[in-house]
Amino acid sequence: MLTDQDRIFTNLYGMFDRSLSGARARGHWDGTAQVIAKGRDWIIDEMKKSGLRGRGGAGFPTGLKWSFMPKESDGRPHYLVINADESEPGTCKDREIMRHDPHTLIEGALIASFAMGAHAAYIYIRGEYIREREALQAAIDEAYDAGLLGANAAKSGWDFDLYLHHGAGAYICGEETALLESLEGKKGMPRMKPPFPAGSGLYGCPTTVNNVESIAVVPTILRRGGDWFASFGRPNNAGTKLFAVSGHVNRPCVVEESMSIGLRELLDRHCGGVRGGWDNLKAVIPGGCSVPLLPASICEDAIMDFDWLREQRSGLGTAAVIVMDQSTDIIKAIWRFAKFYKHESCGQCTPCREGTGWMMRVMDRLVRGEAEIEEIDMLFDVTKQVEGHTICALGDAAAWPIQGLIRHFRDEIEDRIRSQKTGRSGVLAAE
Ligand code: NAI
Ligand code: SF4
Repeated sequence: MLTDQDRIFTNLYGMFDRSLSGARARGHWDGTAQVIAKGRDWIIDEMKKSGLRGRGGAGFPTGLKWSFMPKESDGRPHYLVINADESEPGTCKDREIMRHDPHTLIEGALIASFAMGAHAAYIYIRGEYIREREALQAAIDEAYDAGLLGANAAKSGWDFDLYLHHGAGAYICGEETALLESLEGKKGMPRMKPPFPAGSGLYGCPTTVNNVESIAVVPTILRRGGDWFASFGRPNNAGTKLFAVSGHVNRPCVVEESMSIGLRELLDRHCGGVRGGWDNLKAVIPGGCSVPLLPASICEDAIMDFDWLREQRSGLGTAAVIVMDQSTDIIKAIWRFAKFYKHESCGQCTPCREGTGWMMRVMDRLVRGEAEIEEIDMLFDVTKQVEGHTICALGDAAAWPIQGLIRHFRDEIEDRIRSQKTGRSGVLAAE
């Protein structure tokens, strides 16, 4: 369990002083120039040592990603782009950082950019985050006024500018290459990878795209040391982590905890437990709506980290924990995601464009029980045709929740179809 001294985002817990003076009082912007003076190689090595894996959902090792940036300049500028387009349903952890701890993100942007040879960074924030944008812009302005950004930023000898860009509400613009397209002023559509952004990113220049939380933890990791961060969680699953817990718990919250905390401990300690008690639990989606759900039978022993959840054919994703009790119409819940993905598909590749529509239409009938039993296998087969056959991860994200539903709640789907056929249906109709 994490103690208060181990927390990085201390302003999330009641102080709510997000000003520069408040941030300084909490230890941010302390010795930034000295950290930078240790040099690029030291910073990247320390990040590797910390074991930090990307907090946007994919869990790619952050230090390794930074090391992909060219060491020598070939004349093209380098960029850091911070993905603040937090749009995964259930996910609201980056929002808390931007609301309450913006300076740790700004300081992290400076240090990370220096480590990757970037003199400019962009924060791409989702259009709906209006108050967060205001908070962040106010903090950026404060940092410029205090000499922490701009020429010789924080007296580090490094010139650095930070720009805030707001999106216009498309989920797909959170995909890193669609985000880059959007930042360039084009329609937000994912690019084929490779090339990865480190080779050709923003304006065709070497670019690293990192999540807000990944960058905001950097200053503390470098001040306290990579080994300190690595001391939390299981091997390969290091660090502290923000969890956003929503749904049928007594106190939904965003909380920083140790990686690899038990799911039950997380819910009991910070959320007042499952509504109606643990036995009332039906299922949990542990990492935002892109990852398959866990039925209650697996939840008791669930460990909240990348590797354990992957072994269960689920995932940590964005660590947005959506708790569903026995009152949940689980088929309808997953149908709602199917509808979401169909709406958000950018439409440029056929398996996703057509597949999301097919999946939604079959789910639509399953919710009502107006389907044949054989269609369950057919739906599973369609998810397999989509999975792994698309340009970006949205196709997988659309397929996986349905696979989880069929894997764990097939009986409930079949019961509904049979009930409908025998006229016993009392289920909610799809909207
Ligand atoms: P990915 O696994 O393709 O890539 C992860 C990162 O590692 C990217 O920055 C990529 O450029 C880099 N990378 C991967 N392989 C590389 C290689 N061989 N060389 C160089 N760089 C490499 O995953 P992706 O598509 O970026 O993210 C998918 C995840 O995003 C999902 O698991 C989901 O949980 C999450 N997600 C998060 C959302 C949010 O609101 N935070 C919204 C939607 C999805
Ligand atoms: Fe667009 Fe879907 Fe293809 Fe991604 S998978 S590029 S969202 S059509």
